[in-house]
Amino acid sequence: MSDFIIETNRLTKQYGDQKSVNNLNMHVRKGRIYGLLGRNGAGKTTTMKMLLNLAKPTSGEVHIFGKDIRTNEKKILPRIGSLIESPGFYPNLTGTENLKIFAELRGIPKRNAIENALELVSLPYRDKKLYSQYSLGMKQRLAIALAVMHDPELLILDEPINGLDPIGIAEVRSFIRKLSEERGKTILISSHILSEIALLADDIGIIDNGVLLEEESLEELEGKNSKYIHFIVSDIAQAARILEGSFNTKNFHVEDEHGIRLYDTNLLLPIINRTFIENGVDITEAHVCENTLEDYFKKVTGGVGIA
Ligand SMILES: Nc1ncnc2c1ncn2[C@@H]1O[C@H](COP(=O)(O)OP(=O)(O)O)[C@@H](O)[C@H]1O
Ligand SMILES: [Mg+2]
Repeated sequence: MSDFIIETNRLTKQYGDQKSVNNLNMHVRKGRIYGLLGRNGAGKTTTMKMLLNLAKPTSGEVHIFGKDIRTNEKKILPRIGSLIESPGFYPNLTGTENLKIFAELRGIPKRNAIENALELVSLPYRDKKLYSQYSLGMKQRLAIALAVMHDPELLILDEPINGLDPIGIAEVRSFIRKLSEERGKTILISSHILSEIALLADDIGIIDNGVLLEEESLEELEGKNSKYIHFIVSDIAQAARILEGSFNTKNFHVEDEHGIRLYDTNLLLPIINRTFIENGVDITEAHVCENTLEDYFKKVTGGVGIA
């Protein structure tokens, strides 16, 4: 039995001759915010639909809370809150009235649950405004309120910040974090916006063309994106000896005949330069570089960047 809240095994969805999701092995850990990052058309929504048994996999399996979703749907789904497509809210009712209808359908003890959910997303309980008069941001918040109303352990939110303005985005980010930190929820969220995932997720899965290319913690990812000083020098062996001998560091990487990357960026560049020159190492280039998450995304997807 695994410790994962969500685990997929070679999950695949084929439409015609296109594999929209291709042999996907995904692992979402308890209490974490997992960001599924990929461009439009990468396969995020299709993946989430299969997790919720809304789409049937062509092959492969989904395990949620350690159980196969296909044979345990009735036990598993009530423990999940999801936002995949916009829920069918009634335009001529208020937000609260809409939630009441859903609460009744689902047999949730009403008032408290609705009040709590609305409070979380900062929508008023007593409000005469009709859903049809809601801004896009308010509609999105109501949809999230609906997803959390029955206090699920796991939330699956497909691009919850889509179409929101910057303030709306910041608010959604803050209550997703609150759900994770204060209420211990496990949250799977998808986005095509790299910076957003970087701000929110604990773990990141990068999906491209239906393939999960990378899966790791933000910490690990940031480790790969550290700053370094890039030197091009005449004598790489001598430069390496100087760094070890005079600067007492092994935290560098020799790229090729002339290139060296020093990750110990606390060392002062002018002093290193002087020491190299004094010891017969000519320097053609020396500058501080930083691999951004965007560089990393380009590298793993082998293509153009993402916002
Ligand atoms: N019902 C469907 N029939 C045919 N192709 C589909 C269907 N749903 C999704 N696709 C295709 O699968 C790919 C992945 O789509 P999707 O999962 O919606 O990506 P994302 O959510 O990452 O933008 C796209 O090429 C899309 O056109
Ligand atoms: Mg989508």
